[in-house]
Amino acid sequence: MEKIRTADISDLQSVLEIDGSVIGTREREQYLSDNIVRGCCYVFCEESMVLGFMVFNYSFFEQGFVSLIVVNPRFQRKGVGRALLIHAEKICKRNKLFSSTNQSNERMKSLFKKLGFKESGVVENLDDGDPEVFFFKRLV
Ligand SMILES: CC(C)(COP(=O)(O)OP(=O)(O)OC[C@H]1O[C@@H](n2cnc3c(N)ncnc32)[C@H](O)[C@@H]1OP(=O)(O)O)[C@@H](O)C(=O)NCCC(=O)NCCS
Repeated sequence: MEKIRTADISDLQSVLEIDGSVIGTREREQYLSDNIVRGCCYVFCEESMVLGFMVFNYSFFEQGFVSLIVVNPRFQRKGVGRALLIHAEKICKRNKLFSSTNQSNERMKSLFKKLGFKESGVVENLDDGDPEVFFFKRLV
């Protein structure tokens, strides 16, 4: 059975709990709710439990863009993040897929590199002292 599906508003609480368990606040509630309503949030489920989610849309220069992947800390390093990123590759309607993460996020940078993403520039001053590194993958 397909484990990844488009989130609907009934998933909001699960998504917020996972996000909160990683960042410690609910400050992204509006952002996540908006992306669910727009059909831009995807959840990875097992036995109807949400283990992780991804926000994917075309907000970045109209290119495919994964703006967020978060996996419940209890289920990390089990392939959920990888499966969500591969899902973005499958559903992306452009031939370029972009994403980004903080320079300090070695786990996410490692995941990008494992899936063949290349570095595509750095933006300073988003988070103080921790530049945002962009990655991209050309899709065939
Ligand atoms: C980054 C994150 C999404 C990875 O998801 P995950 O489901 O745990 O990762 P996967 O099991 O799919 O791992 C895929 C690859 O990522 C890298 N990785 C994941 N966890 C890692 C860890 N703890 N240490 C080092 N590398 C790690 C590895 O390259 C791994 O491949 P491998 O297992 O073959 O070595 C997850 O750790 C997370 O939610 N972190 C907090 C939120 C975040 O930083 N999101 C990214 C910014 S948008």
